[in-house]
Amino acid sequence: MKKILGILLALTMVLALLAGCASTPAATEPAATDATKPAQEAPAETQAVPAERVMIKFAAQADSTPATQAVVDAYNASQDMYTVEWIDMTNDSGAMREQILTSMQAGSSDYDVLSMDVVWAGEFAAAGYIEPIDQMMQADGLKISQFNAGSMTAGNYNAKQYTLPFFPDLGLLYFRKDIVSAEDAAKLVSGDYTYADLQTMAETYMGQGGTTDGIVFQAKLYEGLVCNLTEYTAGWTDVEGGLVALKSMVDSPASPVDILNYSEGETHNSFIKGASVFARNWPYQWGMIASEGTISQDVVDVAPLPGGSTVGGWLLGINKNSANKDGAWDFMKFVATQGQKIMSVQGGYLPGYNEMLSDADVVAANAMLSMPGFQNALATTISRPVSAHYSETSDAIMNAAHAYLSGEMELSAAVEAINTALAN
Ligand code: GLC
Repeated sequence: MKKILGILLALTMVLALLAGCASTPAATEPAATDATKPAQEAPAETQAVPAERVMIKFAAQADSTPATQAVVDAYNASQDMYTVEWIDMTNDSGAMREQILTSMQAGSSDYDVLSMDVVWAGEFAAAGYIEPIDQMMQADGLKISQFNAGSMTAGNYNAKQYTLPFFPDLGLLYFRKDIVSAEDAAKLVSGDYTYADLQTMAETYMGQGGTTDGIVFQAKLYEGLVCNLTEYTAGWTDVEGGLVALKSMVDSPASPVDILNYSEGETHNSFIKGASVFARNWPYQWGMIASEGTISQDVVDVAPLPGGSTVGGWLLGINKNSANKDGAWDFMKFVATQGQKIMSVQGGYLPGYNEMLSDADVVAANAMLSMPGFQNALATTISRPVSAHYSETSDAIMNAAHAYLSGEMELSAAVEAINTALAN
């Protein structure tokens, strides 16, 4: 466990890099702190709530695992002042950002607690859409060092903390150890292989053990493609080589014909049903194998990706215009502390509250945390481009990459467009 902790610390350092956005002053005002008796201004229009409970709306992405609903239910059962309602949103990061942004720009109080991707939380803080939480943390005796450091940095703007981790993420290669030879498995787990090696393996093993596809990953036109390309380009150190390797994988008979429409959902559906030998996905897929898979975790191992594993994750913050900031904080604090056990045990997520990393229930339920391939992935994490206007950079990258992968843009034009986006 000590080793895992050490490696998690390494991950947090990389996450910190990811989050190093430029700063401009953000509007701040002292946060309201502790929960006095909540006002009766619960939004009336939705559903019936017991009169004395205040409704807290939690805008969070769709979860393929039972974890988000379980953590909301556990919170609702744990106290009688608030009832949290999960507003189940898209889990396309870019589309969700647009949705929330529209609401925030209109000054809406529709959502009290927001789940935000690490790549756009800083932007929300800079725009003054979310509430600084330093005083609330202090009042409740919480310290920044108790949480995943990279996630905390991603939500720290202008020396103020705006977020707590919902869950940290990193890219992993899942593979079927009942199909892949012991020799290839060892190579994968060590991380000492290339995308060309992986493609050869995917082509070789495809069709074995009841599979129809060799490999699945995220090549749809959305943020997931930027995460995959971060890995193929080894953290943007080789844009041309990465694009060529990714196109080769897309064009290979080992990947599905419609791989250019694959996001995380198509990926896990394929892998957990035993249809593919290899899948690039996030830690939650481990939990999904147990909760919904037709294959069992016994036949699966994980490995680092050849050019490094992209860091991601989601953060919790409070809408500046929330009418129920005390309740919002109370819920957010619960999810980010004791709720992390539920997230990890029921969803396979990586805990963002450090003490949960050595919690016996978490360790027992989430065997992946102790697997050598997972530890190696944690040790080789890489970041998406760091930019003060990340969403434009990301849009330009995904558009050029997707056009090239679809055969609509020349390689040289795609490389140029991406290099321009990276330089901006
Ligand atoms: C995961 C990651 C997030 C990333 C997204 C891309 O949700 O946590 O950081 O942007 O996948 O699809």
